[in-house]
Amino acid sequence: MSNSFYITSPIYYPNAAPHVGTAYTTIICDVVSRYKRIKGYDVSFMTGVDEHGQKIQEAAEKNGFTPQQWVDKMSLNFTTLWEKLNISNTDYLRTTQERHIESVREIVKRVNEKGDIYRGEYVGKYSVSEETFVPENQLVDGKYMGKEVIDVKEVSYFFRLSKYEDALLKHIEENPDFIKPESKKNEVVAFIKQGLQDLSISRTTFDWGIPLELEKGHVIYVWFDALTVYLTGAGFKKDEKEFGEIWSNGKVTHVIGKDILRFHAIIWPAMLMSAGIKLPDTVAAHGWWTVEGEKMSKSLGNVVNPEEEVKKYGLDAFRYYLMREATFGQDADYSKKAMIQRINSDLANDLGNLLNRTIGMQKKYFNSEVILNKVEDKYDIEIKDLWEKTVEDLDIHMNEFQFSEALKDIWKFIGRMNKYIDECEPWNLAKDGSKKDRLSTVMYNLVDSLYKISMLIYPFMPDTAEKIVRQLGLNIDFNTLKLEDIRKWGSYPAGNKLDEAVPLFPRIEIEPENKKDYNENLHIENPITINDFNKVEIKVVEIIKAEKIKDADKLLKFIVDTGTEKRQIVSGIAKWYPDEKELIGKKVTAVLNLEPVTLKGELSQGMLLTTTEKKKIRLIEISKEVKTGSIVK
Ligand code: ME8
Ligand code: MG
Repeated sequence: MSNSFYITSPIYYPNAAPHVGTAYTTIICDVVSRYKRIKGYDVSFMTGVDEHGQKIQEAAEKNGFTPQQWVDKMSLNFTTLWEKLNISNTDYLRTTQERHIESVREIVKRVNEKGDIYRGEYVGKYSVSEETFVPENQLVDGKYMGKEVIDVKEVSYFFRLSKYEDALLKHIEENPDFIKPESKKNEVVAFIKQGLQDLSISRTTFDWGIPLELEKGHVIYVWFDALTVYLTGAGFKKDEKEFGEIWSNGKVTHVIGKDILRFHAIIWPAMLMSAGIKLPDTVAAHGWWTVEGEKMSKSLGNVVNPEEEVKKYGLDAFRYYLMREATFGQDADYSKKAMIQRINSDLANDLGNLLNRTIGMQKKYFNSEVILNKVEDKYDIEIKDLWEKTVEDLDIHMNEFQFSEALKDIWKFIGRMNKYIDECEPWNLAKDGSKKDRLSTVMYNLVDSLYKISMLIYPFMPDTAEKIVRQLGLNIDFNTLKLEDIRKWGSYPAGNKLDEAVPLFPRIEIEPENKKDYNENLHIENPITINDFNKVEIKVVEIIKAEKIKDADKLLKFIVDTGTEKRQIVSGIAKWYPDEKELIGKKVTAVLNLEPVTLKGELSQGMLLTTTEKKKIRLIEISKEVKTGSIVK
């Protein structure tokens, strides 16, 4: 076994801009990478983009680019964001790179030599958006994952996936760490047990891909190409020694979203078995993010842009929130309210206050100098025991990808240290000259605990960890410091001086709910445009005559003055105005460009506007001062 730990994110389709989901996957890889580094591993961390396939080719054409120009441009969205999110990847792979094309050729060659590739014909459905062949039984209302599928009928080369059913089941059974979490493993096992079909691995209807050497006109199916990227990133075909250390003898972990678990836990290991290459040690699948309770989608317009979130809340708060809020493997909801609560309570309050109080008291009692004159108490034993337990629990949770639990472990310790202040009451010790040594011990323990806390939060919030140690008066490079170096109680250098306190996380004021007097998100049923409305001619008219109509007890007929002429208007309001003469001289509103109609033998050249009040119909009366003929708009 080498000391190598190799972790990969999926390689993302560069068609769409990165969002909170892709940021989450990549941040997970970063957190694990940083944790493994402080544990002493040689970490390689690969991320990248998946640049071949029909979907990319179509998008490029639609936007007036060649596929290569298109991916050159789009791929930059990812490199830029990863820098902004403080992602410590050691490689960024693009499937159009030559080193990758070579490793794909090699894999296909090996699988073919094994006798696992044959020529046939694929007839069935294909999802371009997910770049996958879709068996009929996975269609819902004719769609796959909510997206259209196309009919495909083409000569194709196939990979004998079905041959590996038993070997896959056996591998999963014998390697409990292979698929995480447990619930996802059960899903995969159930899927394999339904029976696997051979996989079509070449396409002929487009050409943006790596050519299949077996026959002209075929390009390699995008997943066969994409999955192999993990080998490329480990030096496959390029450097045998490196590949041996990183892949064959090191620990290999793929972090992915649940949507692509089957590719990683079934197709990928079968390809590797066929090619005679070691399987990854772990495929860890996380759940999906919804946004304020809704599915995140372009059409709903609720896609969360990580850069904007970082601008609003700060990078480390964003990273902390994602890792703390989601239970690994399950879906989680991205919500503004929960974000603000976490910042105010966990970060500003619990962590921020511990640091501020400590630095403030050290300054007040010892002029910021950290002195240690050991006078111990039962509380000291408790915090030291809890520290040991925290490091152990954290390690278990980190190895199980239970980041939320790992953060809870750290916060339990932070909470204990805040309580330690209240128990030891430094302000009272300071009043009593004979307790000065005890006071120095309490203050030392607080400082040392913060030093330790900075190390534990470093993988999650690297900038914050640095800010803490700087305030503690230390010049620490977390790239070289190891967890073991500070694990022992008392690792903070006594005699050192603390720096000034600077708040880590300003509190965010919660806006009172419904601060607006109206609902901004009101849904308008059947909206019309202003042009639609302007088509209707409404004016103030004066009633000059009002009469009943013979044999029509519901109707009244009026002669009205429109300001420019006199018109007759028939209205069905007789029931509500038994004494119609009272209406004479009133000003009301009327629609004047309705097509004239004849009602019970009487011509009607417009419509009086009414309203219904307590089930009674009333004409809309206008004050007498308004000029007859005024336009209502
Ligand atoms: O599938 N919540 O690329 P892709 C959480 N190129 N994570 C999400 C998410 C959400 N709502 N939406 C996407 C591909 N993701 C292939 C992979 S690997 C050899 C090839 C994340 O751009 C999640 O990690 O569609 C998911 O697996 C990945 O984005 C899919 O990215
Ligand atoms: Mg996708």
